[in-house]
Amino acid sequence: MKSKIPTLMANGLILSMLFVLLGCYYDKEEILYPELNNCTPAANPLFSADVLPILNRKCNNCHGGSSPSAGIKLDTHTEVLKYVNNGSLMGSINHLAGFSPMPKNTGKMSQCEIDKLQNWINSGKLNN
Ligand code: HEC
Repeated sequence: MKSKIPTLMANGLILSMLFVLLGCYYDKEEILYPELNNCTPAANPLFSADVLPILNRKCNNCHGGSSPSAGIKLDTHTEVLKYVNNGSLMGSINHLAGFSPMPKNTGKMSQCEIDKLQNWINSGKLNN
């Protein structure tokens, strides 16, 4: 009788190759790091669709609600403008000397998120 062991080994090999292939297929950047998905810095980002979602995700667990950190609220256009206009928003996000680095206690935001905020400022800081 012919041994079944080589066949079993061959099957095992094919199966593991399949897993490796499937594994690589799903290792897509956008799936592993979902925030890259919505981060193509448009030339004219919108406050409502681009800026506020970033602030809500990265800042407003501290700077939103009824007792915001340091009294700084970043959840409306009017409030955000104050810190854009005095330079502290971009100063703290870019970790410039003289500003508290933000988001506090975590790494810098991705360059893409920073670019979105900067492009929104450059294109007129509109409440759009
Ligand atoms: C974990 C809480 C927390 C998060 C998250 C956070 N902040 Fe802050 N932020 C603070 C505190 C507390 C201060 C007061 C200064 C200090 O303690 O460093 C502050 C201060 C600031 C200041 C004033 C800085 C200065 O030097 O004048 C700005 C502007 C600011 N935050 C913006 C942001 C932005 C924008 C984000 C998101 C990218 C963010 N913060 C995320 C807690 C936070």
